Amino acid sequence: MKILTAFYFSGTGNTRYMTRYLLSRLSSRYLCEMCDISKPCDAAAKIEASDLILFAFPVYGSAPPIPMRNFIHRCGKSLGGKQTAILCTQYFFSGDGAATIGRTAAKYGAKLVGAEIFNMPNNLADCKMFPVKNGAQIEKTLKRARRRADKFAERLLAGKGRLRGFSPLAHGVGYFSQRKYWQRGEAEKRSRLKIDAARCVKCGLCAKACPVKNILMENGPKPQGACVFCYRCVNLCPKKAVTLIGSEPPAVQYRGPEGRGHTP
Ligand SMILES: Cc1cc2nc3c(=O)[nH]c(=O)nc-3n(C[C@H](O)[C@H](O)[C@H](O)COP(=O)(O)O)c2cc1C
Repeated sequence: MKILTAFYFSGTGNTRYMTRYLLSRLSSRYLCEMCDISKPCDAAAKIEASDLILFAFPVYGSAPPIPMRNFIHRCGKSLGGKQTAILCTQYFFSGDGAATIGRTAAKYGAKLVGAEIFNMPNNLADCKMFPVKNGAQIEKTLKRARRRADKFAERLLAGKGRLRGFSPLAHGVGYFSQRKYWQRGEAEKRSRLKIDAARCVKCGLCAKACPVKNILMENGPKPQGACVFCYRCVNLCPKKAVTLIGSEPPAVQYRGPEGRGHTP
């Protein structure tokens, strides 16, 4: 049996769900392991022992999440010659979302064997423009995504993986429509997380869920200016006290593809 290690980052569960589903389709050939990159793991040793690596992440403004960007640079040296696939999730558009990490992996010498982008439910709960849906309302989206994953898996198993979003056109569209503007203001946006003290009941859920420990509990939750935009806290807060990009409390919070948010 060959070994596949999937390194994933998932704010609200979409990417984890698709990663798990894809691996279930590849398990006839691969012994699969999923590693959440926000938790400690010996990435270099795992890459060394693997026949196929998968990087999986959501896009934020057509860009990969900061933890995934940092992770790939940390483990880059181990990627030389390694067969590598990319799984990227989005709400509806990123242009070259999958290629962002794919290009970096290739620079480190990874051999790209496939990349796919999956449309998933929206998790940007505090932006009125993009309504959040849960439960039966998202089943159609998930079904489409699973069908796409079936095809992606078939192609990977046949050694005919496509590299979605790697064309110069997709690159230009991804960059000029979103990434350029998103990354320009990224540093400032990292300190935009707001917690409404009047609503907050100091339960500590936001601090516990944060993948980068950006929220400290000091007589109530205190953001530290290092948010990575995963939107867990915005979607989890029982009092809807947390906002990030938008300024209104979420009308509906996203519960994730399995209805349980980011929890394993
Ligand atoms: C800060 C932020 C920015 C986002 N930007 C985009 C985007 O540019 N294009 C898009 O289609 N979806 C965008 N989304 C939606 C997510 O990429 C999508 O819901 C993803 O599947 C969430 O994955 P997760 O549940 O694994 O975190 C954005 C979400 C967040 C929180």
